[in-house]
Amino acid sequence: MCGISGAVGLKNISQVLFEGIRNLEYRGYDSCGVALMNKKRIVIKKDIGGVEEFYRKHNVLQMESKTGIAHTRWATHGKVTLENTHPFTSNEKNFAVVHNGIISNYRPLRDQLKKEGYKFFSETDTEILAHLLEKFYKSSRNVEKAFIKMLNIIEGTFALAFISSHLPDHIFCAKRESPLMLGIGDEVKFIGSDFNAFIDHTKNAVILDDGEYAILSRDAYVVKNILSKDEVIKPITKIEWDSETTKKGGYPHYMLKEIYEQPQTISTALDLEASGLDDIVDLFVESENVYLLGVGTTFYVAKYAKYIFSKIAKEFFPSISSDEFLALANVDKRSLVFSASQSGETYDTLSALKHAKSKGARTGAVVNVMGSSIARLVDKVVLQGSGPEICVISTKAALSQMVILTLIAMKLALKKKVITRKVYNTHLRALRELPEIIEGVLNERSGFIHRLANKYSSSRNWLYLGRGIYYPIALESALKMKEVAYVHAEGMPGGFLKHGTLAMIDDDIFSIVFVPPPEDKALYEATMHCIEEIRARSGFVLGIHFTQQGKNQDLYSEELILPKVPSLTAPLIQLVIGQLFAYFTATSLKRNVDKPRSLAKSVTVA
Ligand code: F6R
Repeated sequence: MCGISGAVGLKNISQVLFEGIRNLEYRGYDSCGVALMNKKRIVIKKDIGGVEEFYRKHNVLQMESKTGIAHTRWATHGKVTLENTHPFTSNEKNFAVVHNGIISNYRPLRDQLKKEGYKFFSETDTEILAHLLEKFYKSSRNVEKAFIKMLNIIEGTFALAFISSHLPDHIFCAKRESPLMLGIGDEVKFIGSDFNAFIDHTKNAVILDDGEYAILSRDAYVVKNILSKDEVIKPITKIEWDSETTKKGGYPHYMLKEIYEQPQTISTALDLEASGLDDIVDLFVESENVYLLGVGTTFYVAKYAKYIFSKIAKEFFPSISSDEFLALANVDKRSLVFSASQSGETYDTLSALKHAKSKGARTGAVVNVMGSSIARLVDKVVLQGSGPEICVISTKAALSQMVILTLIAMKLALKKKVITRKVYNTHLRALRELPEIIEGVLNERSGFIHRLANKYSSSRNWLYLGRGIYYPIALESALKMKEVAYVHAEGMPGGFLKHGTLAMIDDDIFSIVFVPPPEDKALYEATMHCIEEIRARSGFVLGIHFTQQGKNQDLYSEELILPKVPSLTAPLIQLVIGQLFAYFTATSLKRNVDKPRSLAKSVTVA
């Protein structure tokens, strides 16, 4: 959703800005640019395409400057063209602006500015900001005053920053509903859409809240409230991640690295069992109705949780895609709205939670990014501690969220006396075995999955089928396939197939079936029926199952056999297979794995 980086103070900040927007490229990578202050003149360089290519092509690292801002774009308003690439300058070139978000009233403001003679060169909503700054500066001769005036007339969402030749050693920035933070070094200050913009240079961050602006120079920074203009004293947040953990560590892609990190991230999630979840469980106990929220992958996490709460705690909590929440939910002070979000910045989830709060509902979330908007908004947050997830496709964060929500369901069930301590301990043992089992599966099955993915990478249509709790696993695995391999994949409950989609079965439709362990007798047998239905029509079935080799020889066209595991963790292990199958299909098709086309990691727009 666009990445912003900025620095003021070092002898030459070009390298810092380069690293900053390169680390933020997961937020958008359609085009990028920098504005550098050079002898009281603003120099702009920008181009379409990725950051590394841009820096190489334009020799940006050779350009000296002590103050600058940079931007990597995910297009919302205006096509991916050079003209629409940030930064934008005012007509007299005294202001250069970058922006993330949407200025909702940009059209009337642009029309007005045009009438006043301002020239526009892009289709973006952002360009008006540079012109407004110039206009208001002309009347006040004061950059801060012009800034406040502009902030007070623009509507919508923004994280924005600018430099001005009128105050060349400063960066100005402001935030409303899009993330922005400051990095505080000794003789250098940074801004960034997240910590990754400056993590190599300082671990001290100041997280801006909505309605705040900041002014930074080499030796000082101040944060103020946009409306009152009063200074706000902000706490310093110590960043716990280091840049090493964000690097690829020998893996060809972040996606693969993050899939392989799952044994570790699940162990970290399980550490919360001892300490971190009791407050959250109380929220569930105290609420009369609970809604589980998420969008994209986290909607499937919420769906998974719906089955887990039903299975373990005998509670029915509806799961809702955050973007549909307003249309569906009737919440009040007896409700709990609980969401999952990797980034903690997703607009749809954030606005659903805000709506819930405005109705007096309790709110909670499991979030991966500390200090993120959702983490700060909700009444109770669980920080999942999965470490930075750089690949645009979510893997390790989602699996850890599923584990955490399972722990919450277990604790709720124990508290409600729906399960005994003995059953609780059996579930806990199963979860504790999970990291080792996943490690084994990753080590022993990856090669086979790789070969399978290569063999079938030309298949253009996949059906992903699962029954019961395997249904959200099918949905999430299908989403992985769509987003990373650009291959059509449809997740569906196994029982639904015969109600229409069965008509599609022919040589061109390939099915993957997530088969439960046979111990889950009813679900297992129901799943077998749907396999038979496909096979009876000579359809292709890849079965991911837990039964012995050879037992189902005639049933599957291909099979992937997993070790015997408790039924509680069986779906989670199958999800890892779904992730790997999508990954290897994507590499076989030579897709841009970590940055798939048209996507961005943190979707901070409506
Ligand atoms: C899919 C994916 C997206 C996100 C969704 C929510 O791999 O990454 O579907 O899951 O945009 O994002 P968060 O979890 O950051 O709220």
